[in-house]
Amino acid sequence: MIVVLLGAPGSGKGTQATKLKDALGIAHISTGDILRESIKKGTPVGKKAKEYMEAGGLVPDSIIIEIIAQRIKEPDCKKGFILDGFPRTVKQAESLDGILKESNLKIDKVISMDVTDSIVIERLSGRRTCRKCGVNFHIKYNAPSKENICDKCGGELYQRNDDKAETIKHRLEVYRKDTYPLLEYYKKAVINIKADEDIDKITERLMALIKGK
Ligand code: AP5
Repeated sequence: MIVVLLGAPGSGKGTQATKLKDALGIAHISTGDILRESIKKGTPVGKKAKEYMEAGGLVPDSIIIEIIAQRIKEPDCKKGFILDGFPRTVKQAESLDGILKESNLKIDKVISMDVTDSIVIERLSGRRTCRKCGVNFHIKYNAPSKENICDKCGGELYQRNDDKAETIKHRLEVYRKDTYPLLEYYKKAVINIKADEDIDKITERLMALIKGK
């Protein structure tokens, strides 16, 4: 099962992909998480990506496509995977088609999670992320049991640099310019869902869609 989750920054892709991964027993591939981990480790990819990410722009396609080509060969992807934050440009989508074709694979579902800009701003400005395991919380909608401490691993929670108001605005512009055209690219397959309800309700809807109900 290969699922592509599309949606603006803050639409809830990461939150839902984490839950779907557990429910479906398939891998969760977040290019944002991979890049943040590369920055933390100071790898050559991390060094190249840092500036783009902090400014809220897109990391060059060539870097991202290479990351995906490698990642989907890993053993945990054998049963399938959820792509969260990739593809983000038409060039990335075309490359993904080529990579999958080489392995005789195809995308099963493309789902676009739709939210308004005001919801994005509220969600991202209240997001807190675990420094250790990367899990996301929200100070109002998905609060940790203890302030600033991750429920899952006890790590410290922090606010991402790109979750500051000005950068969020820029990320939304980048989304509209570079990623929105993917809805046209996938127009025969894409399923749009309203992603402004509570987290568990959206998971239920996604599970029903994925299982074809
Ligand atoms: P990335 O990490 O992928 O960021 P993003 O796509 O902007 O998405 P977010 O992680 O901000 O949001 P999300 O939709 O996952 O929402 P979440 O579930 O966390 O990418 C970061 C950067 O890396 C990019 O800007 C770019 O520079 C680079 N990059 C990554 N991939 C790339 C690519 N393919 N090409 C080029 N560059 C790339 O939810 C947000 C908050 O809302 C959380 O606090 C959550 O708890 C809360 N929440 C979630 N759902 C709900 C709900 N239903 N109700 C209430 N609150 C909710």
